Amino acid sequence: MHIFELLKKDHKDVKALLERVSMASGRASATRKRTFDSVAEMIEAHMAGEERVFYARLQRHYETRVSAIEAIEEHKIGKQLLRELRTGNVDSDQWQGKFKAFRSIIEHHIEEEEEHVFDECEDLFDDSDFEEMGNSFTEEKRRFLATGTSSRAGSGRTASGRASTNRAVRRPARSVKPQAKRRRVA
Ligand SMILES: [Fe+2]
Ligand SMILES: [Fe+2]
Repeated sequence: MHIFELLKKDHKDVKALLERVSMASGRASATRKRTFDSVAEMIEAHMAGEERVFYARLQRHYETRVSAIEAIEEHKIGKQLLRELRTGNVDSDQWQGKFKAFRSIIEHHIEEEEEHVFDECEDLFDDSDFEEMGNSFTEEKRRFLATGTSSRAGSGRTASGRASTNRAVRRPARSVKPQAKRRRVA
């Protein structure tokens, strides 16, 4: 499946779960905690898949490298808040305030991905590339959910730090022409 379809589906599910956590704020803390744990796991697996497959690929292109790094940095902020929320007391005002900040960062991040990042890489890849990335994304998420780590275990869960070096960045030799869309990469 095209990776954009998979990412958008996840985004929709994440937003719905974040809303459920917010709605659960007046209910029993066990329900709130359970709902939060579900969204936390989904977000972590989604980020791992994006970093290992989607952003790893985008970092190799001059046109999308900065946006990919920006997105990974936003992931780091989200993951830090997520760790704090996991161990915090869901009944506290501190937790509720932190959750609101977390939700707003994640929703902003999703908007950026769908409204800017997807557009930026549209012309860099062809349909078979997007399908291939979709398959790898699904596989990476599955691996993460099964093992709690991404395919490069031991190097941490994120693609950050393993980013391509500047040497590896593909700068356009000429201005990007329409045929660039058909160019096979990597
Ligand atoms: Fe993301
Ligand atoms: Fe995403």
